Amino acid sequence: MHDLVVSPSILSADFARLGDEVADVAPSVPWLHVDVMDGHYVPNLTIGQPVVKSLRAVTDRFLDCHLMISDPRTYAPQFIALGAESVTFHPEVDDDPLSIVHELHERGAHVGVALKPKLPLSLVEELLPHVDMLLVMTVEPGFGGQAFMTEVLPKIAEADDWRRANDASFRIEVDGGITVDTVAGTVAAGADTLVAGSAVFDRDDRSAAVRALLDAAIAARPTAGR
Ligand code: DX5
Ligand code: ZN
Repeated sequence: MHDLVVSPSILSADFARLGDEVADVAPSVPWLHVDVMDGHYVPNLTIGQPVVKSLRAVTDRFLDCHLMISDPRTYAPQFIALGAESVTFHPEVDDDPLSIVHELHERGAHVGVALKPKLPLSLVEELLPHVDMLLVMTVEPGFGGQAFMTEVLPKIAEADDWRRANDASFRIEVDGGITVDTVAGTVAAGADTLVAGSAVFDRDDRSAAVRALLDAAIAARPTAGR
C-alpha cells in the first residue's frame, strides 16, 4: 500500500508570489501538483515550461506535472528535461500512448495516465501494468475550484480492484474538488494520492489545511483492502 500523499495544486496559488506560496506549503508536503493546460485539450491556458524551470530552482519537492495538453509526445519530454519527476498525460489524445509511456520512462521520469470523468477504466487497462500512476479526474479538467463529482467514486474502486487483482503497483491519484469532506470517499475507494488546490491555497494556514486533509484521509483508509 502506498503512503498517502497530498499534492497541492499550485493552480490555486497566487502566481505573483509563487515562490513564497511554494515555500509556505512545501514543509507540509512531499509533492507539488503542476497543472499545464494548452487551451486546446481543455478550454483554459495556465502555465508551461518556464514556470517548471523556475520552480525546480526553488524547491526540492517532487514535481507532479499534470499535462492537460493535446500533444504530450512533443512536450512531456521537455518538462522532464527541466526537472519534473513525474509527468501525467491524457492518453486518448494519441494513437499509441504506450510508446509515450515507454519513451518518458527512458528519460527517467515517473509516468502517469489520466482519465476524465466520463472515460471508462477500460480505456487505460492496457497501460496500467506500465505506469506509475493513474490520475482519476473528479471534475472536468480545465479549472480549479469546481465541485467534486461523486459519480466517479465507483471508477476509483474499480481501479483499486484492478490493481489488486493484477498485482500492480501504480498510485491512484484523485484530482478535482478534493476537500476535507470529499477526500474520505476517494480514500475509502482506494485513492492514495490526493491533489488539492483551493482546499489548500485558499486557506491562510496551509499546514493546517494539509493536516486536515490527511487526517480525514487516514481515518477513511481501509485497513486491509476494501
Ligand atoms: C483541474 C486541475 C486540478 C485543479 C484542482 O483541471 O487538474 O488539479 O487545480 O483544483 P481544486 O482542488 O480546487 O479542485
Ligand atoms: Zn491537475
